[in-house]
Order: sequence, then C-alpha cells, then structure tokens
Amino acid sequence: MSSAETPKTAKGVFIKTYGCQMNVYDSERMRDVLRPLGYAPVDSPENADLVVLNTCHIREKATEKVYSELGQLKRMKEGSGGKMTIAVAGCVAQAEGEEIMRRQPAVDLVLGPQAYHKLPEMIARASRAVGDRLETEFDTLEKFDALPKTREADGPTAFLSVQEGCDKFCTFCVVPYTRGAELSRPVDDITLEARALAAQGVREISLLGQNVNAFHGASPALTNETDWTLGQLVRHLAKIGGIERIRYTTSHPRDMDDDLIAAHGDTPQMQPFLHLPVQSGSDRILKAMNRGHTADEYREIIRKVRAAQPDIAMASDFIVGFPGESDEDFEATMQLVRDVNYAIAYSFKYSPRPGTPAAEMFGQVPEEVKDVRLQALQKLLREQQIAFNESKIGQTVPVLVTGRGRREGQAHGRSPWMQAVHFNGPENLTGEIVDVKITDASLNSLSGDLVRTREVAL
Ligand code: 5AD
Ligand code: SF4
Repeated sequence: MSSAETPKTAKGVFIKTYGCQMNVYDSERMRDVLRPLGYAPVDSPENADLVVLNTCHIREKATEKVYSELGQLKRMKEGSGGKMTIAVAGCVAQAEGEEIMRRQPAVDLVLGPQAYHKLPEMIARASRAVGDRLETEFDTLEKFDALPKTREADGPTAFLSVQEGCDKFCTFCVVPYTRGAELSRPVDDITLEARALAAQGVREISLLGQNVNAFHGASPALTNETDWTLGQLVRHLAKIGGIERIRYTTSHPRDMDDDLIAAHGDTPQMQPFLHLPVQSGSDRILKAMNRGHTADEYREIIRKVRAAQPDIAMASDFIVGFPGESDEDFEATMQLVRDVNYAIAYSFKYSPRPGTPAAEMFGQVPEEVKDVRLQALQKLLREQQIAFNESKIGQTVPVLVTGRGRREGQAHGRSPWMQAVHFNGPENLTGEIVDVKITDASLNSLSGDLVRTREVAL
C-alpha cells in the first residue's frame, strides 16, 4: 500500500458487529482509531479495503456465524486479487484466535477486545507482511488510555463505555474469560467523553459495561474521595448541560445498591428502564449458575426499585435448559416472570461453552425439552411485552427524536421506556424531545401523533 498513490480518503472500512452493545461501542471506537489513517466507513464488504468482524462468543450459534461469514469474505478477497484485509476482533478472536487463523488462512489480523488501539500498527504490520497477526493480551486500561479522547457523535443517542470485564464467573458464561477481569474507567475520563458528546448534540447516553453497576471508577482528581459508585457517576453526569437522559446496561442483581436505586427516583435524567438479568427463577438453578442470589432476593430488589420509580419498565435475560433444570425449576422461572411482569426480555436455550464449568455438568437437557420450554417462556414474555406497550395507548409521552420516518411527515424516536415510537409530525425534529400522544401499539413499537415540541434547556 503506497500512500503516495493512494489518497488518504480512498480507503474503505466495513465493520460488521455481532452480539452485545459493548461490541457496538467498540466498533464505533475502531472507526475512530481508523479515521486518521484515511479509512472511511463503507456500507458493504465488497467496497472495503479493510473488513473487520467484531465477534460474539456468548453462544455457539453466534460463534459459528463468524466462520461462515469468513468463508464468504475469503471468496471476496480472492475476487479482489487479495487486496482486502480481513480482521477478526471481539470475543471469538479472544477465545479462539489461534483456531481462527488455522481454520481460515485468509484472515490477516486477529485482535481481542483489549487491543483495538493497536489496530493501526497491526494493519501496518500486516500490509508489510511481517510480525504477529494475533493480539489478544489483556490490558484494558491501556486500551482506554490509548483510544482517541474525542468521538464523532452519530445522532442524539450514544453509548459510553464505563466499565469492562466481569469477575462474577456465572458457570455458563464465557465473558470473564474473553473480556477479562472487571475494570472501571476513571470518572474524569468518562466526564470528558460525555461532555464532548453533549457538545455535539447528544441528549441521551447509555453507560455500558458487562457488569455496569459494579462500577467503581477513580473519583474526580480534585475530590480526594475513594472510588465512585455508579449512582454517584449518574448524578454527576446528570449535571452536564444537554444530557437529558441517562441509561445504564447491563446490571447484576448483586450490585444493585440502594443509592443507585434511589437515583431512579430522585434524578430526573435517569430513565425508567432497568435491564436486570435474572436467568432463572429457581433457587437450585441460580445456585448452580453461581449467580449469588435467590429468586426472592431478586423480587425484593424489584420491589425497592418500583418503590423508588413506580413507572419503571423491567427487562431481563433468561436461560432455559441449564444442566439439571427440571420441569419444576422451569415452572419457578415462569412464576417469577408472572410476578415481575416484564416490559421486554431476552431468552435463550442454554448453550454449553467450552471451558466453562456448566459445560461439564451432569444433567444436560435434551434440545427438544429446551425448545418446548423456550417456546412457553417466549409466549408469556411476548404477552407481557404487548400488554406493556398497549398500556401506553392514550398517554402523551416524551419522545427523543432519532430520525425521519420512511414517509414524508413522519419521524421516529425513543420513549423513556426504550420503545421505538413512530409518529406524524414535521421533519427536522431530530435531537429534540417532543410530546407524542400514543394511538397504537404493537410488539415492537408504538405509534402516535405529535402534540407539541418542548422547550429544551441547553
Ligand atoms: N447459553 C445461553 N445463553 C447464555 N447467555 C450467556 N451465556 C450463555 C450460554 N452459555 C445469555 C445470558 C446473558 C446473555 C447476554 O446471554 O442470558 O445474560
Ligand atoms: Fe457472564 Fe455472569 Fe458476568 Fe454476566 S455476570 S457477564 S452472565 S459471568
């Protein structure tokens, strides 16, 4: 690659993101790192000089998708005369780096989630065909320090990573192995990033972390205090002008402290939505999962959260067919769902992951049983989701406008409870918080009419 002949803006990068919001954030940051090297995003791999697959290792299905995608990219690379650079990033890269390179020689680079700041140097090495193709060392702090401090905002909502990794070691989960030990960013760094986003018109930030409510970042330099909790961080970020909405995801029941719960009631920017995965409603299974709490302790947390913010939308993740799960255990999960009443939830069949304790446990549940349980659970969750959405019909709700609709005179946005809202109203409202009267609801969205635009404090 000669920079003399190739104008700096002539290179295209295509990043395909799998899995969680952490990966969505990481893909944005990779784009930031690559921009100064002249890489501009393109919308298909055919037009790209560099293709990055940002992968997910959480379940087997997610991992297998990566290998089939790599097969297609290999053919594209051959078609391009070998000019395309293929990089595999994310959690599959971390867990199976050597295997990826063995199974798919067309891959030029493999880099784990803690190595994204090294992407430019790796591309340079690969283009000279020298040095290592594999970078999967753990050094989260170095990653955060080395990534560019400024970011280009992409619309009025943004993710902001505050914490990475996990020390909980749930027996089914690969995250502690792929993302490493829990680590929080210093409050000053987070504040800087949040201010820069606000200055570009971002109104809603979602604080991200694998275990976000375990956050314990260094307090601001001038305070001389001990590490801050997530509740303290939220109250601090709420003071930034322009930041009207704050969310955080994903939380663990064990780290749901009273101050964070209180912030749901006393901090107006805190949105009434809480994703608090429980995985199972059976104490026996929760114990085998190493979750560190019982079903009733979870119910008690929800009671406290609802006392602080009665309007909250609850969300969760569930796994059915964990080893040893009986019909009775599964019924306990169904009962917990009936008791809590979720606005939205994600449910999965247990997928044994190599290297995790549960993969070796006795009592693996047959696929057919997992299928039946998943269908029953998803039916119940769907009913609750529709009922929750329908409960908004007739209400006037504040909607952060995220863009124009497909047809003229239509726009879309997000409700405080994370629902997509489509409404009739003038265009060019993007970035404003407007009042919309809800007239209809479906499983995945609300629709309504603009009542008025609000005066927004900047
Ligand atoms: N099998 C099935 N689901 C899993 N999850 C994590 N590991 C597994 C696994 N081995 C689910 C959990 C978690 C979500 C991100 O993915 O519900 O909360
Ligand atoms: Fe995985 Fe459990 Fe950590 Fe969540 S808390 S990332 S499920 S180990």
